[in-house]
Amino acid sequence: MNSRQGPIGVFDSGYGGLTVLKEIVKTLPQYDYIYLGDNGRAPYGIRSFETVYHYTLECVQHLFRMGCHLVVLACNTASAKALRTIQQNDLPNIDPERRVLGIIRPTTEVVGQYSRSRQVGVFGTTGTVNSQSYPIEIEKFFPDVQVYQQACPMWVPLVENDEYDSEGADYFINKYVRQLMVQSKDIDTIVLGCTHYPLLAGKLQAHLPPGVTLLSQGGLAAASLADYLQRHPEMAAKCSTGGGRTFYTTDDTATFDRQAGIFFGEPVSSIHLAL
Ligand code: DGL
Repeated sequence: MNSRQGPIGVFDSGYGGLTVLKEIVKTLPQYDYIYLGDNGRAPYGIRSFETVYHYTLECVQHLFRMGCHLVVLACNTASAKALRTIQQNDLPNIDPERRVLGIIRPTTEVVGQYSRSRQVGVFGTTGTVNSQSYPIEIEKFFPDVQVYQQACPMWVPLVENDEYDSEGADYFINKYVRQLMVQSKDIDTIVLGCTHYPLLAGKLQAHLPPGVTLLSQGGLAAASLADYLQRHPEMAAKCSTGGGRTFYTTDDTATFDRQAGIFFGEPVSSIHLAL
């Protein structure tokens, strides 16, 4: 790696982005990656626009200082509340040559291909749902699709605290599933609009009516990143190769390593980042 090259940065408020990184490294194994989980300040989903924006910008700048030219926000809440401001207001001042990509667009540009009933549901954090990012973005690509949203504020704490397979999880999964499905009985496709939620997919499928398709974002984000790098060879040339994976957490590393392997699918050894 020379100084004109650097790893691809992948950011999330905590562990959830590891479900995305897992798919990205399957699709693009040749690149080096740095993952940063802001576990010390998670969850983001219940925080204000200002707070999520400041936390996200701070983490993106750390990833830039670590040499990343390209950063993926593998967090819906950060993508909904901070991405546009960072792209439009901050990047021109920080370094107009660097790029930050989000996770909402790779999902919204394909979701209509999965739905026959044209009734799509979205589960997300309170912040993502309140931002209206999904209905606004889906309307641009699929104006005939009706979007129904449900905020699930208890799901990220269940996942972050390793309770995603417990009886308590069943209670809160059933509660939010009912609150979504009562909005339209014809919903046939549901976006897991939070990168923590794939860990709940098994239980979710059991609580949903048969035939409902659950869309996880990891594979969609990976395909979209591969396409982006193909369309932007100048950025691909700045991404170092060698298959390196480095993990940073803003919280305790031993706890992170114990949990992270579940999300990433292989053992993880992290480094502490003091903010
Ligand atoms: N994983 C993040 C998302 O995709 C947010 C979780 C949180 O910190 O609330 O929205």
